[in-house]
Amino acid sequence: MRGGAAEPQPAGVFVTGTDTGVGKTVYAGGLICLLQRSGIPVAAMKPVAAGCRRTAAGLRNDDAEQLRALLEPAPSYASVNPCALEAAAAPHLVAAEQGRTIDCTALAGAARAMARERFTVVEGAGGWRVPLGPSQDMADLARAIGLPVVLVVGVRLGCLNHALLSAEAIRADGLSLAGWVASELDADDPRREAQIASLDARLPAPRLGRIPPLADPDPQRVAEHLALPWRGLGPDYDAPPPA
Ligand SMILES: Nc1ncnc2c1ncn2[C@@H]1O[C@H](COP(=O)(O)OP(=O)(O)OP(=O)(O)O)[C@@H](O)[C@H]1O
Ligand SMILES: [Mg+2]
Repeated sequence: MRGGAAEPQPAGVFVTGTDTGVGKTVYAGGLICLLQRSGIPVAAMKPVAAGCRRTAAGLRNDDAEQLRALLEPAPSYASVNPCALEAAAAPHLVAAEQGRTIDCTALAGAARAMARERFTVVEGAGGWRVPLGPSQDMADLARAIGLPVVLVVGVRLGCLNHALLSAEAIRADGLSLAGWVASELDADDPRREAQIASLDARLPAPRLGRIPPLADPDPQRVAEHLALPWRGLGPDYDAPPPA
């Protein structure tokens, strides 16, 4: 357990994105490797995953399995992904189809407990305002967890609006935006550089990385393109690790 006699504050980041499929898992994997290289014990969580395979052991989601595979010792699948929904669709729709309720209070409690033990990288699903029930959304879950947020921006046409609105919403919801990451999904976009510069000038938080288009976005390789989110690291981790 981190810290001294007093119960430590949860430490970690909540990873959101401008959309689904923008590179949240690629970033989360790279960050886990970077933290581990820096000697920081890491945990990971994908609290809600919609899009799971049926296996003999139960439903399994690729994101959760990718993050879990990076952790030492490997935690139980259920601790990484407590809410696994089979269909790859909006979580509140899949849950309603099955007569299930997504219990944000329980999910947040589990994430906070994990983040008191180790720096925890929590990956959302989709973007910031994805509904999780009739009156709850991903932002409510992130707020209940209370970790600083990293916004992964999929750099492509339309991302400026999505990124600026997401950043505005994160801060309006009372959470700290620790930083943002440029995820260069489209190698053929001639305005990648200019779009990133536009966001550097407008987003109210530092850029924590720029992940180029990679033939194989392996987490160890991705880590080389990232900086640690100093401002999100909590009291135990305020100082950067030695060079
Ligand atoms: N920098 C990159 N270079 C090459 N491929 C990338 C890069 N970033 C992401 N990808 C690919 O784009 C796809 C989407 O990335 P990823 O799964 O990380 O998105 P996500 O935001 O986590 O999606 P979801 O909303 O489903 O969780 C994946 O196939 C991933 O391998
Ligand atoms: Mg993902």
